[in-house]
Amino acid sequence: MKAYRVAAMVAALFGMGFAQDSTEVPTGVISGDYTGVLRPQVHFSPPQFFMNDPNGCFLDANGTWHLYYQYNPLGLVAGNQHWGHATSKDLYHWENQPIAIFPPDNTSQVFSGSAVVDVNNTSGFFPDQDNGVVAIYTLNTPTKQIQEISYSVDGGYTFTAFEGNPVIDSNSTQFRDPKVIWFEDHWVMVVAFSQDFVVGIYTSPDLKTWTHASNFSHHGLLGLQYECPNLVEIPVNGTDEMMYLLTISINPGAPLGGSITEYFPGFFNGTHFTPVDNAARIADFAKDNYAGQFFYGVPFGEAVSIAWASNWQYTQVAPTASEGWRSAMSLPRRNFLTNITRLGWDLVSEPYNLSPILGRQLALNDSLLNTTLSVDYSDVESNAIYFEASVTGLPAVASIPTTAFLNFTFSNLNTNESLSGGYQFGADNPFFLDRGKTRGFDNPYFTDKFSVSQILDPSGTWSISGLIDRSIFEVFLDRGTFSGTATFFPTEPLSMFAIGTGDMPQGAKVAVAVYAVESVWV
Ligand SMILES: *[C@@H]1O[C@H](CO)[C@@H](O)[C@H](O)[C@H]1NC(C)=O
Ligand SMILES: *[C@@H]1O[C@H](CO)[C@@H](O)[C@H](O)[C@H]1NC(C)=O
Ligand SMILES: *[C@@H]1O[C@H](CO)[C@@H](O)[C@H](O)[C@H]1NC(C)=O
Ligand SMILES: *[C@@H]1O[C@H](CO)[C@@H](O)[C@H](O)[C@H]1NC(C)=O
Ligand SMILES: *[C@@H]1O[C@H](CO)[C@@H](O)[C@H](O)[C@H]1NC(C)=O
Ligand SMILES: *[C@@H]1O[C@H](CO)[C@@H](O)[C@H](O)[C@H]1NC(C)=O
Ligand SMILES: *[C@@H]1O[C@H](CO)[C@@H](O)[C@H](O)[C@H]1NC(C)=O
Ligand SMILES: *[C@@H]1O[C@H](CO)[C@@H](O)[C@H](O)[C@H]1NC(C)=O
Ligand SMILES: *[C@@H]1O[C@H](CO)[C@@H](O)[C@H](O)[C@H]1NC(C)=O
Ligand SMILES: *[C@@H]1O[C@H](CO)[C@@H](O)[C@H](O)[C@H]1NC(C)=O
Ligand SMILES: *[C@@H]1O[C@H](CO)[C@@H](O)[C@H](O)[C@H]1NC(C)=O
Ligand SMILES: *[C@@H]1O[C@H](CO)[C@@H](O)[C@H](O)[C@H]1NC(C)=O
Repeated sequence: MKAYRVAAMVAALFGMGFAQDSTEVPTGVISGDYTGVLRPQVHFSPPQFFMNDPNGCFLDANGTWHLYYQYNPLGLVAGNQHWGHATSKDLYHWENQPIAIFPPDNTSQVFSGSAVVDVNNTSGFFPDQDNGVVAIYTLNTPTKQIQEISYSVDGGYTFTAFEGNPVIDSNSTQFRDPKVIWFEDHWVMVVAFSQDFVVGIYTSPDLKTWTHASNFSHHGLLGLQYECPNLVEIPVNGTDEMMYLLTISINPGAPLGGSITEYFPGFFNGTHFTPVDNAARIADFAKDNYAGQFFYGVPFGEAVSIAWASNWQYTQVAPTASEGWRSAMSLPRRNFLTNITRLGWDLVSEPYNLSPILGRQLALNDSLLNTTLSVDYSDVESNAIYFEASVTGLPAVASIPTTAFLNFTFSNLNTNESLSGGYQFGADNPFFLDRGKTRGFDNPYFTDKFSVSQILDPSGTWSISGLIDRSIFEVFLDRGTFSGTATFFPTEPLSMFAIGTGDMPQGAKVAVAVYAVESVWV
């Protein structure tokens, strides 16, 4: 969570005041209207008003996923931070819950943090239960940022602040976003000393007493601040080995502007994190993927995350305010590490099991060579679709015509607005994504084109999948080896999809499938 005063100034500059229509923070379930033409139908967005970072993500013993989030329950820009809460059995169908954590007074805010299930009652908060939940978060006060904990005896719905708060006070105004995991026989926290470019690593036997163990400092891209660090055990694809992954979100100052997440594959021994190499690696090649958090309590061998799908450069002026809400989460993702030979370790991110939201097949073509397939999806009620295309049988790169391409476009034929992307197989050209031909949002920081350089797999295969959901598009290349998350704001819904290839070499095969996506809200 960043300094929101600056953001409020930006909002004022763009003529969007605080849309505060009430001064009472609601204590019950907040209802939402999910019918707006920009409102995502399978991505989580707050019932009303402004949301940012995912917080406190965990999976409970009953198989319920808990998502908390930075929430301003009274306005359409950041401020007045509480922990909003939603629960789901499949990470797509969310049930809004009452706000879970409120600030203790009106001069402080509950900033980002995490949650764990204290199955062994290490904290002593849970005399006769094994499903006690402890939330660990930053309290932002007028003089400093301190780390506090609250506990829940009802499985994460309501919380009581620990009387001994704060649990860490470093007398710093820039010290935030604690993420806690369990390591063998103790708790481990990573927390950002944001403007020192330090991830502090602390250990604790009981979540109350914390000891500084090490610092991970000045690694990768600095941006202007480090925020929302995560440390997670992560599987190595195709093996039963696990490694560790440290992620750091930087904002402002991402390479494409504003906010983005970088990551470090490596090793963790209980007190110290050691990255595999000195490289800086970025989690997403577009601009709307920040503050990703890994869920605590997932089965061994899985690493599941969700991120905030927006960017501080423009989130507070996004046109969705006209529908009474701002910001969505990314799709939930399954993550693992894989070795992409020349680059070494790479974070692979794929949508978590999509079957709960996939609807009817709209088109299938297993021979889309030098031709284009068009799908009019204006009758898909959600206005959301998913597609996959796989290309096989490609010869060595040197023998592919440099003009061989696959591209796709989502468009509105009335307004001529579109979102498009594509790749040239034989050239060194990167994959591109262009959101600049939608006209519902004009902002100098709303960068309109993105690209990512890829090395064609020596096996002669390439694949892409994408999910478009009214005002957010996520694309996955080579089964999630690269991913891009981009919001876009058309003046009218996009409802025509076309995908095609051209100048393809002999022997290549292209298979495409397109599916309707079913709304989880309506
Ligand atoms: C904040 O809380 C104090 C003490 O409870 C109260 O006197 C004051 O009016 C409150 N301020 C606002 C803006 O609500
Ligand atoms: C709980 O206790 C068991 C048995 O000592 C131990 O193996 C496990 O790591 C502990 N887990 C947590 C989260 O405390
Ligand atoms: C949990 O911890 C509290 C405080 O130490 C203790 O009173 C209680 O007996 C513990 N419960 C269990 C089941 O260990
Ligand atoms: C699981 O559900 C049961 C029955 O509804 C409830 O008693 C229990 O508290 C739940 N467990 C968790 C971890 O929420
Ligand atoms: C905390 O920081 C403030 C501002 O830098 C400083 O004035 C104060 O002396 C510090 N307090 C302690 C206990 O170090
Ligand atoms: C860790 O980093 C913090 C924040 O910059 C600093 O105050 C502290 O002295 C560092 N600790 C060590 C042991 O380097
Ligand atoms: C992951 O491993 C599976 C099985 O080994 C393989 O088919 C797949 O291509 C790998 N995915 C990536 C992205 O490396
Ligand atoms: C963890 O790594 C650090 C740095 O390499 C080392 O000083 C420490 O002894 C290691 N701890 C354990 C338990 O191996
Ligand atoms: C990745 O795989 C290549 C080819 O097998 C190997 O040479 C390289 O050492 C591996 N890199 C890592 C980081 O394991
Ligand atoms: C795929 O598209 C091509 C070109 O339009 C067409 O000839 C072919 O019949 C289609 N195949 C299927 C399975 O629809
Ligand atoms: C693909 O690119 C070609 C060349 O720029 C363009 O004519 C065509 O409309 C594009 N097709 C799609 C489906 O984006
Ligand atoms: C596709 O078009 C290119 C260039 O027009 C041509 O050389 C190639 O043979 C065509 N590919 C197939 C599979 O027909």
